[in-house]
Amino acid sequence: MADKDIRPLIAGNWKMNGLKQVSRGLARDVAERARTSRLACDVAICPPATLLSVVAEAIEGSPVALGGQDCHPEPAGAHTGDTSAEMLADIGCRYVIVGHSERRADHGETDAMVRKKAAAAHRAKLIAIVCIGETLAERDAGNTIAVVTRQLAGSVPENACAANTVIAYEPVWAIGTGRTATAAQIAEVHAKIRADGPAGVRILYGGSANAKNARDILAVPHVNGALVGGASLKADEFWTIVESCR
Ligand code: PGA
Repeated sequence: MADKDIRPLIAGNWKMNGLKQVSRGLARDVAERARTSRLACDVAICPPATLLSVVAEAIEGSPVALGGQDCHPEPAGAHTGDTSAEMLADIGCRYVIVGHSERRADHGETDAMVRKKAAAAHRAKLIAIVCIGETLAERDAGNTIAVVTRQLAGSVPENACAANTVIAYEPVWAIGTGRTATAAQIAEVHAKIRADGPAGVRILYGGSANAKNARDILAVPHVNGALVGGASLKADEFWTIVESCR
């Protein structure tokens, strides 16, 4: 499938942000905009686990989809503090982010663990948003392509396809830093993911995407949307990014 035939996805990753009242308002605001416009992309919100039901209710009946930020590989059991893919599906999720660099760094998640989580997502009929990306040290050492190639091969389960998987390229040094990768840097990595990844899979860019740079990022070859952190916490800014898909 040619990239022009791939419907982009703009996914908001709220990370560990948000209390009930404000978050309900933000989700309702995004849902209302989505209801009343002709969308040129899919839109998802991935709130922290405590807000999943609040956001599920706020976006009900709108085109906005719900996503989790992580899942455990097992469907249920003695895993205090964890959430399974089945639980996410049960509460109304369509997506789950797995292998975000913050989880790889904070919780020591390896490619093998991420792959199990993505497989769990598939088992629960969720779309796994599998995150990969190099650190600044890896880029400076000239290892970017080697690192993302290894992460892609190690983190994506064998049965992954365009219908059940999204790949998010997020250079670690660009996340939350205000330092966006250049078009050439994004293009190089996305071309590699397009060549090696599942056929027709959506490839998102993430890392300081915002209302100002979204149009340029989305114009880079093989960029099929964005995973948006900080800028997804403001409805106006997030919506400008959604509208940049036109
Ligand atoms: P950022 O985060 O947009 O705040 O850089 C992106 C992400 O980590 O998904």
